[in-house]
Amino acid sequence: MSKKVLIGVTALTLTMNAFAIEYSLKDNMLKLNSYMIQMQAAFIEGDKDKAVRTANALNGEAKMLFGDEKLMAALLPKGKENKVRIAMMSSRTIDDNVIIINASMNTAHWETAQNAYLDIQKACMRCHTLIRD
Ligand code: HEC
Repeated sequence: MSKKVLIGVTALTLTMNAFAIEYSLKDNMLKLNSYMIQMQAAFIEGDKDKAVRTANALNGEAKMLFGDEKLMAALLPKGKENKVRIAMMSSRTIDDNVIIINASMNTAHWETAQNAYLDIQKACMRCHTLIRD
């Protein structure tokens, strides 16, 4: 393979990787968003099972996406890679609050669970502020 072709192939592979990462980030964020909307509806409707179900689904999705620091560094926009540690803290907050939702719904402590939901929302926003500022 000539050098030019090799460079071309490398550039194409890198572009495709960047595209795949961007696509999967957007796709996963939209999923997270949809779980947040469903969870809010569950709290407003007073549907305990739905609240627990969506909280756990959200956590599964969040863990898959945020569980890997290297992946997260690659997903963050250019120049924001150094924010990965703070970003990881946001995702840990999500995990902690899902645990709170599970525990407090078992004992029907609605207010505690609802506050945990709001703390998750804050964690989403904290990370977005961090990467968009
Ligand atoms: C670790 C950091 C981080 C956390 C935590 C996080 N996000 Fe995001 N989110 C991003 C990045 C990076 C983008 C893409 C860049 C942008 O939109 O500024 C994004 C984009 C989005 C988008 C726009 C998707 C699009 O392109 O249409 C939505 C919706 C979204 N996030 C929802 C959420 C929700 C809901 C949560 C909490 C459950 C959350 N995010 C938590 C980093 C994060």
